[in-house]
Amino acid sequence: MQIDVLTLFPNIYNALNESIVGKALDKGLFTVRVHNIRDFSKDKHKKCDDEPFGGGAGMVMTPQPIHDAIMAVDENHESFRIYLSPKGQKLDQKLVKKLSKKNKLLLLNGAFEGVDERIIELDIDMELSIGDYIITSGDFASLVLINSISRLVDGVLGSPLSVEEESFSSNLLEYPQYTRPQNFNGLEVPSILLSGNHYEIAKWRKNMSQEITKKRRPDLLED
Ligand SMILES: C[S@@+](CC[C@H](N)C(=O)[O-])C[C@H]1O[C@@H](n2cnc3c(N)ncnc32)[C@H](O)[C@@H]1O
Repeated sequence: MQIDVLTLFPNIYNALNESIVGKALDKGLFTVRVHNIRDFSKDKHKKCDDEPFGGGAGMVMTPQPIHDAIMAVDENHESFRIYLSPKGQKLDQKLVKKLSKKNKLLLLNGAFEGVDERIIELDIDMELSIGDYIITSGDFASLVLINSISRLVDGVLGSPLSVEEESFSSNLLEYPQYTRPQNFNGLEVPSILLSGNHYEIAKWRKNMSQEITKKRRPDLLED
């Protein structure tokens, strides 16, 4: 998979070099190309924002640099183009799975009050939100999106079981996990997990998943 990112803050993506995702990028399991929207501005001061028509607080990202960047990176519209926006479809694991099957993604990141609406009309396939709150630029949402998608790319995680059993994989939250020591500050690991009986362990885990989901996220069971 190839992901093209359009941003005013390219350094934010240095965070991708950490952890499992960084290793996967090194191995070439997927690629992320970061493009600075400012490089495409035809303004003599490389300006990329202006006051909103009709007045109001803040600045709006101008369409020219964004449109030119999109044309330079994805002239033939081979990428599925996403604008990270609080007004978009809310990201969940089902959507992550769907997007992980695309060959090419283009992520447009807004800043200030967002982008000129005509860019969305002309160039964007989908608006995507990471939740009902506002962050300062789309880049932090893009990092979440890239990280969640990359985990589903073949070879990125050590074991494919990690993906199959975790929260949201079958409309359930994950069962509780324990590791050494067996007793920590007086709290014991549930004895079933030490029994070596894989059938009973699987049954316990399934029950725990169902209980936790019922209690914390009953909406997931209705899906
Ligand atoms: C300060 S926000 C602009 C918010 C906009 N004025 C509004 O009220 O909808 C700047 C940029 O951050 C990104 N952003 C903010 N919240 C987001 C969210 N929940 N999900 C995805 N992107 C978000 C968008 O790209 C947005 O253009």
